[in-house]
Amino acid sequence: MDVIAIYPGSFDPLTNGHVDIIQRGARLFDRIVVAILVNVDKAPLFTIPERVEIAREVFKGDAHVEVDTFDGLLVDYAERRRAGVIVRGLRAISDFEFEMQMALMNRRLRPEVETVFMMPAEPYTYVSSRLVKEIVALGGSVNGLVPSVVERRLRDKKLARETLRA
Ligand code: PNS
Repeated sequence: MDVIAIYPGSFDPLTNGHVDIIQRGARLFDRIVVAILVNVDKAPLFTIPERVEIAREVFKGDAHVEVDTFDGLLVDYAERRRAGVIVRGLRAISDFEFEMQMALMNRRLRPEVETVFMMPAEPYTYVSSRLVKEIVALGGSVNGLVPSVVERRLRDKKLARETLRA
């Protein structure tokens, strides 16, 4: 039977750290579903359709990677998708407490779904979507930290916002 894994998150925006984890997952599992949470943030930078488009563009041609959206409980979504695994990336000890809490809560809700933690390559251990947004907003470069399609779209968004303000 195929082993399907869900990689859930906000992905606002997708970073190279996420890409690294997805590629690792695609080697381990028959399919990894990048599951973008709908309705997490009231003021997101990218809309859900934009985030889906970005992830699909980055992973186009990779038969092991699927991009989808979900709302409600993650474990219910995993059940609907017949996925036995939830993948989460662990960058540093600071991630651990929240991730452990979520993994154990998800296990309590649905014991048959296992959470698997993966570490990204070292250059991405300090990369986060929040910092990427802050750097771009303040005029810094995020080259190498996000896929080129994200970099381009971040630039376009910044330009659009500046034009609106002018
Ligand atoms: O990218 P993020 O913000 O770290 O992702 C967090 C996410 C989407 C994995 C988490 O908020 C989640 O699973 N939300 C769905 C609702 C849910 O199942 N909540 C209970 C978790 S124990």
